[in-house]
Amino acid sequence: MTEMLELIKKRRSIRQYTADPVSDSEIRALLEAAMAAPSADDMRPWEIIVVRRKDLREELSRVHPWAAMCKSAAVVFVVLGDARRSSRWVEDCSALTENLLLAVTGLGLGAVWVGIYPQTADEAYIRRLLGIPEHLRVLCLVPVGRPAEDKPAHTKYDERKIHYETYAGK
Ligand SMILES: Cc1cc2nc3c(=O)[nH]c(=O)nc-3n(C[C@H](O)[C@H](O)[C@H](O)COP(=O)(O)O)c2cc1C
Repeated sequence: MTEMLELIKKRRSIRQYTADPVSDSEIRALLEAAMAAPSADDMRPWEIIVVRRKDLREELSRVHPWAAMCKSAAVVFVVLGDARRSSRWVEDCSALTENLLLAVTGLGLGAVWVGIYPQTADEAYIRRLLGIPEHLRVLCLVPVGRPAEDKPAHTKYDERKIHYETYAGK
């Protein structure tokens, strides 16, 4: 239990990676952890594209100025939500993405959430690049690699944002 709590605090956005690969078994473990996420009515309105090809990663890195790390990552997970299947695909796919990030940390890898939704132009770019059908929305990209930077754990705990019993705290 303590280990799990430490892992949650250890997760940081890692944007620099070594050239070392991420193995098939690590990718499988990450996908299993991601898809263990909760979802409304257990609809699981998610699909994931696993992008290892260098040419595609380079194209993904150009989607916007804060996605450059897709180029040097060993693999990029593209998180898709099925808006036909559930109106709550954003929440469900966000839960999946956080699971993925925590699993990355647990395996000693590094990753960052690269937001795409709700920027429709960015979504259209990725849709064209990867041939994604219209009913699937693009929530985010998650580039993953072996970390080439070390960041301290943090909690961001902020007492001012906690309210007990009522908002006024009475
Ligand atoms: C919805 C969302 C979108 C994000 N988009 C980006 C992004 O496009 N590029 C990036 O480098 N980081 C992105 N981040 C990561 C945040 O910048 C990062 O989580 C924040 O600075 C806190 O740092 P930490 O993750 O190390 O705790 C995003 C995070 C979230 C939750």
